[in-house]
Amino acid sequence: MATRCLATIAVEAKPVEPLPPMTTTAIVHDLAATVMARCDTLGAISEEEGRLTRRSYTQAMRRANDQVAAWMRAAGMDVREDPAGTLLGHYAASKPGAPTLLLGSHLDSVRDAGRYDGPLGVLVGLAAVEQLGCVGRRLPFAVEVAAFADEEGLRFGRSYLGSMAFTGSFPPALLELRDPDGVRLADAIAAFGGDPARLGAAARRPEDLLAYLEVHIEQGPQLEARNLPLGVVSAIAGATRATLRFGGTAGHAGTVPMELRHDALCAAAQTVLIAEELARATPGLVATVGQIAALPGAGNVIPGVATISLDVRHQHDPARIAAVDELRARAQAAASARGVTLAWEELQSTSAVPMAPGLRARLARAIAAGGHTPLELPSGAGHDAAVLARFTDAAMLFVRCRGGISHHPAEAVDVADVAAAIAAVGRWIDDLAGEPYP
Ligand code: GLV
Ligand code: MN
Ligand code: MN
Repeated sequence: MATRCLATIAVEAKPVEPLPPMTTTAIVHDLAATVMARCDTLGAISEEEGRLTRRSYTQAMRRANDQVAAWMRAAGMDVREDPAGTLLGHYAASKPGAPTLLLGSHLDSVRDAGRYDGPLGVLVGLAAVEQLGCVGRRLPFAVEVAAFADEEGLRFGRSYLGSMAFTGSFPPALLELRDPDGVRLADAIAAFGGDPARLGAAARRPEDLLAYLEVHIEQGPQLEARNLPLGVVSAIAGATRATLRFGGTAGHAGTVPMELRHDALCAAAQTVLIAEELARATPGLVATVGQIAALPGAGNVIPGVATISLDVRHQHDPARIAAVDELRARAQAAASARGVTLAWEELQSTSAVPMAPGLRARLARAIAAGGHTPLELPSGAGHDAAVLARFTDAAMLFVRCRGGISHHPAEAVDVADVAAAIAAVGRWIDDLAGEPYP
């Protein structure tokens, strides 16, 4: 869908007079409708028939990146992919040598995903650039839109691959990770068109960046409960991800007496319930086992090996670390009591990260200038902003999502809320550029 503003450009070859910043609500609403239509388009780009699953470095991801690259080019941006496969569209500043304001999020998804987690932030960033470009407006800083490669970690079990490469914090050992089909991460990046041997070249210099802003659906119910379209993220929760492998003894389901069994799946199942019990008993803690597998995997064979994933999060790192320690000790006890071994492999441990206070205050002002009450709230979900915040000033703008539902095909946002987000981002950019709010 073309926006009204882009249509204007097509008709008028001459430069047009710059509009006053963000006064044209019709343009914002057209841009919001375009963002919604684009989320629909990307939502149909999937590895799986009938549901949205877009793992990093797959053919589906290639199509998504190519589609967004085409939209970026149409918006007048210089487009490239860095060696890690992160898509970057660059809109030049009014003068050379100026720093870059980074807007973005990710295009990869979880399995059976919704269409807004990730793409909304990329496309609202693009809409902000389209709003500048359609009136030929240049800022004292460049604006770059990033679609980070692999935020969700679905394929290799490790999230933030693109933003870690971008910030120069990618641990090279991760290149040896394998997906469930045995494909090495390094090979997947190369097949995608990236360059695993040159990931260091993806790293940017913090002094070249002005700030990072990520727009994202809230993925929780707080904005909806307060009837507010937008929120300002105060901090992003820390997270630990681990794989737990329980090793028991496989045997005949009909002949091995119960008291002689070493059932790996029973130890894993007990651990799932320990995680739930601990999280329910610990304020602010969430713990999830989202994957479970048993081998050899037959109905009449006692499971000899069971593997589960574990995801533990809290806003306060000491509480998360203490919970992980306790969980590990209790899982070990549950395994030992059954004569089962436990191998605990920590995949990731990221600390809680506050968003930059100055940028948060500017976001709150931008939301208020649009007539909405700015609510500050923490993010329980992880975001590329958690990685970028260690590199440059970072902020996040949350958009209300229906029922607080996400990581689910029922994810939904209202076009009016997307319009409010585009307007708020525009005002926030005006503020950074030192221009008065309309
Ligand atoms: C990403 O969505 C995460 O929080 O796991
Ligand atoms: Mn997600
Ligand atoms: Mn996301």
